[in-house]
Amino acid sequence: MSKKALYTGSFDPMTNGHLDIITRASKMFDELVVGVIVNPNKYPLFTREERVDMIQEVTADLENVRVDSFEGLLADYVNENQFHAVVRGLRATSDFEYEIQMAQMNACLFHKGIESVFLMTSPKYSFISSSMMKEVVSLNGCIDGLVPEIILKRIQEKYSK
Ligand code: COA
Repeated sequence: MSKKALYTGSFDPMTNGHLDIITRASKMFDELVVGVIVNPNKYPLFTREERVDMIQEVTADLENVRVDSFEGLLADYVNENQFHAVVRGLRATSDFEYEIQMAQMNACLFHKGIESVFLMTSPKYSFISSSMMKEVVSLNGCIDGLVPEIILKRIQEKYSK
């Protein structure tokens, strides 16, 4: 049976840390869906469509990766779309506290057999977040090597307006 996993987040915007997790997870599953979530608690710089387009562009060479977006309860999307696993990246012990709580709640909501799977973020990217990338660019700082080039351009365009 082919195994399908979801890697989800706001991706506002995607960073090289996310790309690292996507690339590694795509080798573990037959199909990996990158699910851009509309998080009502966040005020994104990029629209849902912009975030989806950027990820599609950056992951175009990964054949078993596709991009989707959704809103509402993660478990509903996962159950309805017959995923086998949800992949999350762990950057530091501070992520662990939040992730274990979320994984345990999701375990109550997921259909039987669906697992949360955690990958350790590469140490090269363990300190970065989307907000930090936006803040540094907005103040004319350099984030070379931390986000894909296409995305760096898009962030710069947003702040030059
Ligand atoms: N490399 C770089 N940065 C990373 C990273 C990595 N590998 N992994 C995470 N980050 C950063 C992200 O860029 C993000 O930065 P930001 O806060 O500056 O935007 C931050 O870490 C948090 O990322 P993440 O946890 O993936 O995104 P999120 O908080 O937007 O979304 C969801 C978390 C989507 C899993 C959660 O909100 C959710 O499930 N929502 C649906 C509603 C629901 O079902 N709720 C009940 C849950 S039990």
